[in-house]
Amino acid sequence: MKPPYDYRLNKPFLTPIIDIIKENNRIKTFIFEYNPISEPVKINPGQFVMVWVPGSDEIPMSVSHIGKNSKISISVADVGETTHLMHQLKIGDKIGIRGPYGNWFTSQNGTAIVIGGGIGMASVLSIIQDLSNHKNDPIDIKIDKIICINGAKTKSELCFNKELQKILKENDSLEICTDDGSRGFKGFTTEKLKEILNKGKSNSITVYACGPEKMLKTVFQICEDHNKIPVQLNLERMMRCGFGICGLCALDPTGLLVCRDGPIFTNEILREITDFGKIHRDFSGKTYLI
Ligand SMILES: Cc1cc2nc3c(=O)[nH]c(=O)nc-3n(C[C@H](O)[C@H](O)[C@H](O)COP(=O)(O)OP(=O)(O)OC[C@H]3O[C@@H](n4cnc5c(N)ncnc54)[C@H](O)[C@@H]3O)c2cc1C
Ligand code: FES
Repeated sequence: MKPPYDYRLNKPFLTPIIDIIKENNRIKTFIFEYNPISEPVKINPGQFVMVWVPGSDEIPMSVSHIGKNSKISISVADVGETTHLMHQLKIGDKIGIRGPYGNWFTSQNGTAIVIGGGIGMASVLSIIQDLSNHKNDPIDIKIDKIICINGAKTKSELCFNKELQKILKENDSLEICTDDGSRGFKGFTTEKLKEILNKGKSNSITVYACGPEKMLKTVFQICEDHNKIPVQLNLERMMRCGFGICGLCALDPTGLLVCRDGPIFTNEILREITDFGKIHRDFSGKTYLI
């Protein structure tokens, strides 16, 4: 899907936080209303917003819940200066939001395997909800089954399991993975994916995922090795402007920009990206091997 460009949404809209949910020791969900223009703003699964924390910086965040009456939420891992400041905010404090930006996940017929690695689960929550809505009401898209793989380093870092259990229905499944085996399958989400694909037929499957880029690269390779299963992968590169101006999120050698042409990429484009799963950029644009 191509992103919509509505330049009225490029200015941060200050809005008070109406609720905060502590997901675990590192992740908090912030709920607020986003109604910067007179008509409702359409946000699609996997799209992101730029969040301005007054007194600090502006950072990209996926929309984790797309609610009714302009109510949306973002789920933030405390990893650095701005996210740490966000974690100190209280209900009623204001944040600035602009967007939504980027393309989005699109539900496809058949079996859906959705993978969230760590905080990457925040970005795939809304596509899981969308897939489940299609499963309940199969008018245009028919979803047979949703298999969700939720992974983290250890059990205290797992998030959204209760919510996933509410969204998923009878023949769906939730596979929990921890690197240290403290809960569920001991090992990476990618090992679980391989196990699932090796058991069944790989036709009519689409894989949707968000997480560390190394994980995404492995997901991609596994899917390519299984008859080129279609993937929709959400790449989270370093961003500054969020809408195609600064060039910080460029993908070598394609020149595609994650903020404008992504953040969701499919097999055809991923095959062309030579630095996929290999590098990380800092804010100056300098690259480091990962
Ligand atoms: C499209 C998109 C959607 C995102 N969605 C979410 C989300 O839903 N929830 C969430 O918690 N985080 C999300 N992120 C990552 C988030 O933007 C960064 O963690 C945040 O910008 C860090 O800001 P900071 O000032 O706290 O940390 P900094 O002090 O700037 O950095 C702390 C550490 O995080 C790394 N980092 C900074 N920015 C990014 C980035 N864009 N991607 C990966 N690593 C980064 C730095 O290299 C450093 O190691 C998303 C990123 C993108 C590009
Ligand atoms: S963040 Fe500036 S071009 Fe993508």
